[in-house]
Amino acid sequence: MDNNDFLKKVISHSKANGFIFQSSEIYDGLSAVYDYGPYGSELKNNLKDFWWKSMTQLHDNIVGIDSAVFMDPTTWKASGHIDAFNDPLIDNKDSKKRYRADVLIEDYIAKINSKIDKEIIKARKRFGKKFDEKVYRETNERVKNYISQTSEISAKMNDFLKSNDLKGLKILIDDLKINDPVSGTSNWTDVKQFNLMFSTEIGSTSESSKKIFLRPETAQGIFLNFLNVVNSTRVKIPFGIAQIGKAFRNEIIARQFIFRMREFEQMEMQFFVEPGSEMKWYEEWKEKRMKWHNALGLGDNLYKFHDHENLAHYANAACDIEFNFPMGFKELEGIHSRTDFDLKNHQKHSGKKINYYDQKSGSSFIPYVVETSLGLDRLFLAVISSSLRNEKLEDGTERVVLKVPFEISPVKVAVMPLNAKDGLPEKALKIYDELKLNFKTQYDYKDSIGKRYRRQDAIGTPFCVTIDYDSLKDNSVTIRNRDSMEQERVPINILADHINKFTSINNLLKKI
Ligand code: GAP
Repeated sequence: MDNNDFLKKVISHSKANGFIFQSSEIYDGLSAVYDYGPYGSELKNNLKDFWWKSMTQLHDNIVGIDSAVFMDPTTWKASGHIDAFNDPLIDNKDSKKRYRADVLIEDYIAKINSKIDKEIIKARKRFGKKFDEKVYRETNERVKNYISQTSEISAKMNDFLKSNDLKGLKILIDDLKINDPVSGTSNWTDVKQFNLMFSTEIGSTSESSKKIFLRPETAQGIFLNFLNVVNSTRVKIPFGIAQIGKAFRNEIIARQFIFRMREFEQMEMQFFVEPGSEMKWYEEWKEKRMKWHNALGLGDNLYKFHDHENLAHYANAACDIEFNFPMGFKELEGIHSRTDFDLKNHQKHSGKKINYYDQKSGSSFIPYVVETSLGLDRLFLAVISSSLRNEKLEDGTERVVLKVPFEISPVKVAVMPLNAKDGLPEKALKIYDELKLNFKTQYDYKDSIGKRYRRQDAIGTPFCVTIDYDSLKDNSVTIRNRDSMEQERVPINILADHINKFTSINNLLKKI
């Protein structure tokens, strides 16, 4: 199955099993906006719980806040978003479709890269065990030529983007003879800058109303509350403020499911440090964040760092943690050393002094900031796409199983009476009523046990508990493990402890 087909499978599994639905589907859907269904919202809440506790509970110098989506519009002037939060946009005059100019060029580069991949697959077949990919890349003329083409194009594109040279981008698109994938023509408009912020009006009358923006990042709510937090709590630098919340961006290209959405959720933490110490903290947070991802247990080989060459206007160092999504390695989380850019500009635009007084040294300064910014929806996609499996069973049948880490699974245990008679349902319901006080539990009595197992496998339930005739006599049940499919007998009085041992979020927190 190729990557595209696999992504389609993830999308259809998510829909069929109540994880993710297209927003406004009955009106034919709203592009790049999604709703989380019953199991999706449970899984998402568990991811939030893991992040929130790891930040605010495990660190005594990180506090959490929950700021409003709406902020004074000057916020976005100060942050640079009004002037610089733009994507270069280009329209095709024939198809009337709109594209990001840089993405058209990146797609062109990706095509050359896939030619390189094909050459390598062919050569690997030809040379067998003797094949050395590194040497082949360095010596094969055709591959060398492809590689130099891609580096030249990407260097040119980055230069044009850096210097805001929109004419240069257009000339590059023309020179590469890039055609619109829909119309097949190269009848392009000029490249224009397009601001990604959504705006609306606040106020009840036309005279009093003013234009405000839906926040494109949660971080600014943290900066605006910096003084409130310092003055109302006992935090001392270095300290962090964490927040989980919605962000909105009018993305030009909306594709790849929940990877790029117009309404999405961020889990951000701003760590305020003494000026000059930011690089030490930047390195420390890079390491800590990678450790956090690895603790989740999706597979350490699925992550890598990508250092930024083109830094955003506010940063003096930045990198991404990339994840191997069905579309390849792409950004999952950003870690940025944001200097004092934001606090300094809010001080300038608000006229309010935003200094931190350090009692130890007796000095005052505007703190520097190291930010960790994780997209919750991208994390969700990472979890679901790396967990979805088709497994062949010993009896020749197949099962679709979502091997999400037990600790974040939407339902922890399903309780199943073997039959719907002879006192088994009553016994099962008693167990269900006890377990649901501790865990998200399902009572499932319809269909054969085999069918019930398949249903629970598809939503990733770690344990299925069956109540049979022996249970009425010996007060024990059969518990089946989702991954090993092994079954064991467990006394009812230790059932909750047994499930808790394998599903508690504390297991993940202990690994950090
Ligand atoms: N405060 C810094 C900031 O917002 P960013 O790299 O623009 O930095 C941080 O975004 C993270 O937010 C990304 O790594 C990604 O996980 C997520 N994100 C950004 N745009 C997104 C979108 N359109 N849809 C889903 N997630 C997005």
